[in-house]
Amino acid sequence: MSSFRTVLLLLLVLFAAPAVLNASEDGRQVYIVYLGDLPIADSSESKGFSAAVEVSHQDLLAQLNNISGVEGIVSIFPSRTRELLTTRSWDFLGLPQTPQEELPLQGDVIVGMLDSGVWPDSPSFSDDGMSPPPGRWKGACQNFTCNNKIIGARAYHHGATGMSPLDEHGHGSHTASTVAGRAVDNVSFDGLAAGTARGAVPGARLAVYKVCWLRGSCGDADILAAFDDAIADGVDVISFSIGSVLPFQYFEDAAAIGSFHAMRRGVVTSAGAGNAGGLDGGNVCNVAPWMLSVAASSIDRRLVDKIVLGNGNTIVGASINTFPPVQNATLALPVNGSCDPDDLAGGSYKGKIVLCPAQDGNSGIGPRLTGVVAGAVLVGEPDVAYALPLPALVVSQDHFDEILTYVNNTSNPVGTIGSTETTTDPEAPKPASFSSPGPNLITPGILKPDLSAPGIDIIASWSPLTPLTTNPKDDRKVLYNIDSGTSMACPHASGAAAYVKSFHRDWSPAMIMSALITTATPMNTPSNSGSNELKYGAGQLNPEKARDPGLVYDASERDYIAMLCAQGYNATALALITGSNATACAADGSSAAGSVGDLNYPTMAARVEPGKNFTVGFPRTVTNVGDAGAVYNVKVVFTVGSADSLAVAISPSRLEFSEQNPKASFTVTVAGVAPGAGHVVSAAVVWSDGEHEVRSPVVVYTPDVEESRV
Ligand SMILES: *[C@@H]1O[C@H](CO)[C@@H](O)[C@H](O)[C@H]1NC(C)=O
Ligand SMILES: *[C@@H]1O[C@H](CO)[C@@H](O)[C@H](O)[C@H]1NC(C)=O
Ligand SMILES: *[C@@H]1O[C@H](CO)[C@@H](O)[C@H](O)[C@H]1NC(C)=O
Ligand SMILES: *[C@@H]1O[C@H](CO)[C@@H](O)[C@H](O)[C@H]1NC(C)=O
Ligand SMILES: *[C@@H]1O[C@H](CO)[C@@H](O)[C@H](O)[C@H]1NC(C)=O
Ligand SMILES: *[C@@H]1O[C@H](CO)[C@@H](O)[C@H](O)[C@H]1NC(C)=O
Ligand SMILES: *[C@@H]1O[C@H](CO)[C@@H](O)[C@H](O)[C@H]1NC(C)=O
Ligand SMILES: *[C@@H]1O[C@H](CO)[C@@H](O)[C@H](O)[C@H]1NC(C)=O
Ligand SMILES: *[C@@H]1O[C@H](CO)[C@@H](O)[C@H](O)[C@H]1NC(C)=O
Ligand SMILES: *[C@@H]1O[C@H](CO)[C@@H](O)[C@H](O)[C@H]1NC(C)=O
Repeated sequence: MSSFRTVLLLLLVLFAAPAVLNASEDGRQVYIVYLGDLPIADSSESKGFSAAVEVSHQDLLAQLNNISGVEGIVSIFPSRTRELLTTRSWDFLGLPQTPQEELPLQGDVIVGMLDSGVWPDSPSFSDDGMSPPPGRWKGACQNFTCNNKIIGARAYHHGATGMSPLDEHGHGSHTASTVAGRAVDNVSFDGLAAGTARGAVPGARLAVYKVCWLRGSCGDADILAAFDDAIADGVDVISFSIGSVLPFQYFEDAAAIGSFHAMRRGVVTSAGAGNAGGLDGGNVCNVAPWMLSVAASSIDRRLVDKIVLGNGNTIVGASINTFPPVQNATLALPVNGSCDPDDLAGGSYKGKIVLCPAQDGNSGIGPRLTGVVAGAVLVGEPDVAYALPLPALVVSQDHFDEILTYVNNTSNPVGTIGSTETTTDPEAPKPASFSSPGPNLITPGILKPDLSAPGIDIIASWSPLTPLTTNPKDDRKVLYNIDSGTSMACPHASGAAAYVKSFHRDWSPAMIMSALITTATPMNTPSNSGSNELKYGAGQLNPEKARDPGLVYDASERDYIAMLCAQGYNATALALITGSNATACAADGSSAAGSVGDLNYPTMAARVEPGKNFTVGFPRTVTNVGDAGAVYNVKVVFTVGSADSLAVAISPSRLEFSEQNPKASFTVTVAGVAPGAGHVVSAAVVWSDGEHEVRSPVVVYTPDVEESRV
């Protein structure tokens, strides 16, 4: 048996690091040196294995003077620093509490969390009644006391290991408990969002790989090392709530490389799509087709806060504000026009509510630092509630202007800020303003994000080692916190993947991704008419349906390599991803024989030139995972406004399966006249046997973003 192993090497001191790269604090640039496949006789011989790794390290260290000449190195790339993306949700998704009898089934599923560590003393991580870890588990608990819930914990920082995996941030505890937290009753944030907090798979095991440290930085070298350890330890699912504001080329993306290895070993990776939604588009990250990219959307519970103006008008915004109400306080514009701490210093805002314009962001730090401000109104996207360090709320620009008009026309303008209240939002799920949209700038023919999951105002476990907000002078500590981000959406999908895996131990990562994607609930509803699949993918995660998807679109390592070849990757670039120079495209580069659209992906996407006629074919093969004799018929459902510009033909339009023939192939041909620049037209191909609906979005879009940004 042979295995692959990434060997990280972080001791390289390169003083002439390219300017675009973030140097680490001490000015050294960390590079990742990737050795590709290291043969090992037997994966259980971990001792001999580490020895091999050490020798390689020493060989390398001896030759650092000219690293590019060292034999055996297939890849060197700079280690970038990533960011953490920052429950009612499971009820909203229709996933019931796990019945007692299914808990042991889940106990065989291990989820690896690459995050900021974990706070193990939370009741969410209790191992009450849980059996010891599965015998195949090879993980370790370094500088950490494990139990039968958290069965592994390691930490990685700039290449060093052995530090405490305790969560000093809160993020890692939040994501871990969303995936696999036990059901804990009567959880709330100071009375807000009260209810039972639980993960998707409360019976599953967690293995924690701490790669993110305070201030949210997570290094590529540490990420890659953690991926490889998690795979070797024996996790089934990797949850990766870490991202960037733009996607990276696969061959220099630690997450793409790590998740490729995971895929090869049957481990599915679910990742956040990124929180750069306020920007131009094309920001979606973690876009490799062998990993799931998860967008964030709302749940039907909203946290709203109000300001009542002296003229009786009520303006609704968002915040997590459990401070006592501020009554009839004078509304004041900052004298210098800004709520930056320096600008507010020395002003007379005692007992007033300051109105902070948009360019100040929405942190509330400035008003808080003055120490005398009674409250604040901030401008932002009020679809998300943030914990602010003083009585304050975030309102839309329009509402802010309305307040300014009142202030401009009133001799003594006053307002009352109440405490946050919970309301029901019948329009949910809606895409989160912050969630990074496509198109996929790395592989334009693959739709990313793949799907959406709850990522707004999610309450879950937190760490008391960290203050509630990153704001200075806010020293509130909590065991459960409300947080928002694709970081919160990702563990919902990771948990759903673990849930599916608990019923289908032998399914490949592609099958699990397919099950999640084709059963997602469509989000192209009237209330989401301003948005499209490039923002929310196939729609909202539906774990219960994913458990029994009917048909799945499977793909193997070979298929992904064929896709990379079709995209024009050369042998060098390919080796960086696969970790082996043995995988090569057809010698004459005639991978032109295939196209990216040939990958057996559960969605179909094409980027076309504005105004031009197009015809694109998508050959697909589905595997029947339902009743052996199922018969499926196809229908096409057009998104409102798309039927005129899109023709979708499927051949054959009927699939008959049998015990002997669990697979069937068909081709989807999409043709039409492309819309103008920056537009999306879409439909869905839906196979149905009367019981299952296997839905694949078909998305055709025209470019409007600067691809040179990547
Ligand atoms: C590094 O090695 C390469 C290939 O072996 C060689 O061409 C190059 O001159 C070397 N550079 C230095 C600075 O020694
Ligand atoms: C792959 O790399 C190894 C050493 O790293 C080298 O010996 C071998 O010739 C390479 N194979 C190909 C096909 O380039
Ligand atoms: C455990 O972690 C702490 C904090 O990171 C560190 O100071 C200590 O050296 C670690 N202990 C061991 C045995 O590595
Ligand atoms: C729930 O928690 C609140 C305080 O957080 C407490 O007052 C109340 O008694 C608790 N209810 C139950 C049923 O435990
Ligand atoms: C605030 O002003 C309103 C209207 O002028 C008044 O009814 C209310 O009593 C005031 N509240 C306080 C606490 O002063
Ligand atoms: C306005 O800003 C300047 C520096 O930017 C500061 O020195 C001054 O105190 C501010 N004035 C008030 C009234 O806040
Ligand atoms: C209110 O008045 C200020 C200056 O007095 C001005 O800058 C601002 O645009 C006015 N706002 C509105 C909404 O009219
Ligand atoms: C309020 O003041 C603004 C100028 O800041 C003016 O344009 C507007 O007409 C006034 N509105 C009313 C209702 O008086
Ligand atoms: C292979 O592709 C990489 C990335 O696009 C490029 O930098 C490199 O020059 C290519 N190598 C060859 C031999 O074409
Ligand atoms: C584009 O397609 C339309 C019909 O959909 C046809 O009338 C037109 O001639 C085509 N244009 C070209 C350049 O093929």
